[in-house]
Amino acid sequence: MKKRTITAIDVGTTKVCTTIAEVNDEGPIRVAGVGITPSKGLHKGLVVNITEARESIRESVKKAEYASGYRVESAFVGVTGRHVTSLNNRGVVAITHNDRLVRPPDLRRVLTSAQSLKVANDRKLLHVIPRSYSVDGQPGVKNPVGMHGFRLDVETHVITAAVTSVQNLVKCIRGVGVDIDDLVLEPLASSEAVLTEDEKNVGIVLADIGGGTTDIAVFKDGSIWHTAILPVAGYQLTRDVAIGLGLPFDVAEEMKKRYGSVMPIYESQSEMATAISEDGHGISYQDLCDIIRARVEEIIRLIVLELPRSDYEALVPAGLVLTGGSSNLSGIDALGRDILQLPVRVGTPTNVAGITDAIRDPAYATSVGLLLWGTSHKSTPTWRLPKFSGALRHLVFRIKNLFH
Ligand SMILES: Nc1ncnc2c1ncn2[C@@H]1O[C@H](COP(=O)(O)OP(=O)(O)OP(=O)(O)O)[C@@H](O)[C@H]1O
Ligand SMILES: [Mg+2]
Repeated sequence: MKKRTITAIDVGTTKVCTTIAEVNDEGPIRVAGVGITPSKGLHKGLVVNITEARESIRESVKKAEYASGYRVESAFVGVTGRHVTSLNNRGVVAITHNDRLVRPPDLRRVLTSAQSLKVANDRKLLHVIPRSYSVDGQPGVKNPVGMHGFRLDVETHVITAAVTSVQNLVKCIRGVGVDIDDLVLEPLASSEAVLTEDEKNVGIVLADIGGGTTDIAVFKDGSIWHTAILPVAGYQLTRDVAIGLGLPFDVAEEMKKRYGSVMPIYESQSEMATAISEDGHGISYQDLCDIIRARVEEIIRLIVLELPRSDYEALVPAGLVLTGGSSNLSGIDALGRDILQLPVRVGTPTNVAGITDAIRDPAYATSVGLLLWGTSHKSTPTWRLPKFSGALRHLVFRIKNLFH
């Protein structure tokens, strides 16, 4: 049985998580090592200080290497931020072989034709994902290879990102001697970890509410339909608590995680009950929950506004799956159901084996999703360093490390 390893690096606004996994031809992927460090130098999913971000990544990679005994040469890396935009585009080609049979090279041609849209100089293509094909006008074909026809159309979901933001991230990763297998939009990765095929077929929204961003992906008829990134998440919740209750940020973060809930508190506690932080700050449960509830309600409404159609009940009858660290807030699924009148659940990554204790939490949906993405997609040459320069950089990095 052939065994290989793949690595995922999720550079989040609050934590950097490196995960190294063993992949066999059969069976689930086995997590061999995880390295989690608080992230520095990031704001709303973007690198704002290269040196600080690079050091957080270095620390996280080192921890994962130590835990697994493997060395990281390259990794699948998550991308997020307000600079990411998406649109649906079409491509069309003629099938000119005598037998009019659609072959794999025709698929490549039609995807290339879908990429020929004008991408501004300051933007870079991240993904061109085929959603469905049609052969001679017959729509809804998932795999046209082997069919006969004169004309092949493809509908694609195209995702682009700002060149500068991507370059900053790439620079940080390469700066620790790791090459890039691929850059993956974070909500696409998260959805690999927490959505079922059934949900994607029926129509579903995924919202990864992290620290700095809420990452949204909408699936319909088994494929991606829409993606969006909102610049509001757990950080704003903590800031609201800090400002609203006059607490230092760290204490507000502690209070939010320990006692925070979006349920009306009077159902389980007295209205006058007090929550005490480790250093002795006391606040009313009721006030804490009211503040958190108001902001979470706003985030859920913003998610709905991001949907490309207003009749969202018809677009996504399977409802909403919440993931990311902030979906740990107790009662968030019930609040979502109240607002949307659709099924809402919290998605925790489960379909991996090995040392998974640290990552069985919605905050690690992106990390697990990047690993799953890595097993089902090939590493692309887009972000890889040329072979010689890659090897040379690696050597220089190792020598530098000897003196570090
Ligand atoms: N039990 C909890 N209750 C409430 N909030 C929580 C809890 N646990 C974690 N969080 C919040 O989750 C957020 C971190 O989530 P996550 O790790 O998914 O973010 P990230 O990936 O670092 O950031 P991003 O994806 O936005 O760049 C923080 O704001 C943290 O306060
Ligand atoms: Mg995240």
